[in-house]
Amino acid sequence: MALENESSRTIHQLLSKIATNDQHGENSPYFDGWKAYEIDPFHPTKNPDGIIQMGLAENQLSCDLIEEWIRKNPAASICTTEGVNKFKDIANFQDYHGLPEFRKAVARLMGKIRGDRVSFDPDRIVMAGGATGASELIMFCLADPGDAFLVPTPYYPAFDRDLKWRTGVQLVPVISHSSNNFKITKEALDDAYENARKSNIRVKGVVIANPSNPLGTTVDLDTQTILLKFINDKQIHLVCDEIYSSTVFAGNPPGRNFVSIAEVIEGVENCTVNRNLIHIIYSLSKDMGLPGFRVGIMYSYNDAVVQCGRKMSSFGLVSSQTQHLLASMLSDDEFIHHFLAGNSERLAKRHAEFTNGLREVGITCLTSNAGLFCWMDLRQLLKESTFEAEMVLWKVIINQVKLNVSPGFSFHCNEPGWFRVCFANMDEETLELALKRIKNFMENLKRKEEWRRNNLSRLSLKLSSAGGSRHDHHDHVGLNKASPRSSTTGILSPHSPMSQTQLVN
Ligand SMILES: Cc1ncc(COP(=O)(O)O)c(C=O)c1O
Repeated sequence: MALENESSRTIHQLLSKIATNDQHGENSPYFDGWKAYEIDPFHPTKNPDGIIQMGLAENQLSCDLIEEWIRKNPAASICTTEGVNKFKDIANFQDYHGLPEFRKAVARLMGKIRGDRVSFDPDRIVMAGGATGASELIMFCLADPGDAFLVPTPYYPAFDRDLKWRTGVQLVPVISHSSNNFKITKEALDDAYENARKSNIRVKGVVIANPSNPLGTTVDLDTQTILLKFINDKQIHLVCDEIYSSTVFAGNPPGRNFVSIAEVIEGVENCTVNRNLIHIIYSLSKDMGLPGFRVGIMYSYNDAVVQCGRKMSSFGLVSSQTQHLLASMLSDDEFIHHFLAGNSERLAKRHAEFTNGLREVGITCLTSNAGLFCWMDLRQLLKESTFEAEMVLWKVIINQVKLNVSPGFSFHCNEPGWFRVCFANMDEETLELALKRIKNFMENLKRKEEWRRNNLSRLSLKLSSAGGSRHDHHDHVGLNKASPRSSTTGILSPHSPMSQTQLVN
């Protein structure tokens, strides 16, 4: 131990402050579930009792559509007999502007996802290594160390890494509540801004994710108008992470339910928006299920930001091989139409299957219309409304129910008991097994509670016939203190699942 301390001290002296601070978040409890999963990962035949990964916001539902396109278009790749004649040109290309046909194709895709209600200028597209790289890039362009961005809660945990770690930027939470479905309000924005100001923190802007991770909801026009007026009044930036824009699955057509900030700036009443303040983050990681391609986009309406971002993008370019392949795939209108429609249909089906399965066992989720996850309400299962109780429940879900889900506190949610559960990163059979495990867990909780109730009423009958006070006794053992929520959801007990899960397989 002493040696360990000694060596960690030496490392701290040898390396930079950035290298040795813990802002990366790797040590946060959010990653504990991942570590548990890595030790005991579910596999249908090799480890059928292992932990199922439901903490990964990946879209694996439409991979076959992309594979089919690749098979039909071998010339799009430079590593095939049909495409190898382009190998030399593409392999030698390294220009931080990117292949013009790639930028054009991405701009078209962004327009198509928004129902062609708005168009994007390829010259404003700056490449980055995924949305992760693009988010950091925009921070480097807009803020100095110590400056702050307001971020509505609950928010994507890795914003702490992507926006803060290497840039020195601070994030100030804008608190939202379940009572209004976690909508962003003007009051909460004002509070966060004023609190930051009182602490002498310079607020440079607001960052939102639309659709939201973890809520799986789109940010409506009214809320975005409030946001626009807010940032416009204060002359601070608005960064909209729209990487889930094509995961919208509800509505007809589904894209109708998504309003991009690009559309909102066209028509805000009583407000001349300073477009220099508006920036969009995009990537193909979620919409097309290509996180490994590391295709991130920073799109800014501000010329200076585009120029500066382009210079900085040398640190995180998209490989020319990937650009070349995607330029061809994304300009195939017929394929894109087929892919976008098929993808949202599959997501809708998966979402319905999962949320219906949860509902059958008395678990509700925030009503959502987008994303690769649900925001599951397990407040009824907390022993008390604290983050300690949330942590206890989370450990039970990981270690006994054998599902890696993500607890609300890792998203900076201010109400304990919410969990994000991903449903699009697995096949049908694995999803069914996950639902079965949840069902068993809930049924066992109910059985145990019924058993306790029966025994207690027998005990109190005995005591009352022996002259004891029934009410005193119930109070003493802590029964009948079920929260008002319990009766509405059909789950009987507010008690800690820790003591109640012995029956879970
Ligand atoms: C809101 C949000 N932004 C950014 C990212 C990072 O995406 P990428 O894989 O493109 O870096 C994620 C990934 O989960 C996310 O949910």
